[in-house]
Amino acid sequence: MKFFVDTADLDQIRELAETGLVDGVTTNPSLVAKAGGSFLDLIAEICRMVHGPVSAEVTATDHATMLAEGRKLAKIAPNVAVKVPLTPDGLKTCKTLTNEGVMVNVTLCFSAGQALLAAKAGATFISPFVGRLDDVGSFGMALIADILEIYNHYPMIATEVLVASVRGPQQVIEAAKLGAHIATMPPSVVHQLYRHPLTEKGLETFLADWEKTGQRILDSGEAAALAAGKNG
Ligand code: G3P
Repeated sequence: MKFFVDTADLDQIRELAETGLVDGVTTNPSLVAKAGGSFLDLIAEICRMVHGPVSAEVTATDHATMLAEGRKLAKIAPNVAVKVPLTPDGLKTCKTLTNEGVMVNVTLCFSAGQALLAAKAGATFISPFVGRLDDVGSFGMALIADILEIYNHYPMIATEVLVASVRGPQQVIEAAKLGAHIATMPPSVVHQLYRHPLTEKGLETFLADWEKTGQRILDSGEAAALAAGKNG
């Protein structure tokens, strides 16, 4: 499963991109507002940091303006995925941009019917918001299962399910168990995926027992060279 990071914070994207685990980035107008600065410059910088798809959302609601905005965003970098909302005008724009070879991420998806429409519009990605469904007492992961069941019946559907509005590691695991293509998650969730108390405790014990041997893997010369940055 591909991991996308759901933020417009350059420092957090840079830190996670260095792990080699980041396959893309998703942003939305709220995340961009939170990050501050010029939207167009932000997307250009993110596209330089991460070579996978970077979602940049249009802010118009009518087809003609969405299309103009989408074409402008697509020109920023080859890895821009234009994000459009799941509305009639959004899907009309999706179809046009897709036909022009632009990646399109259809966002704010809350039903299987909407996901079917997005696939018919040629969406590259569909973003069902699982957390927001859970927030209102629905079951977000059931929607993911429904969408995947429908898409898997039709080999001509190339749309990838991009699980969004992820609130914690469990949703990432559930999405992976269902076979979702991508999960996009806040940086905090990536960090939570790393952590387990038994890993930390086990490492502490290993190092304490190793310390008792009085041995070192690197001799003093190698350690000094490393500290001086000479070990390539
Ligand atoms: O990419 C969509 C995501 O940012 C929405 O997440 O937490 O605002 O529901 P959230």
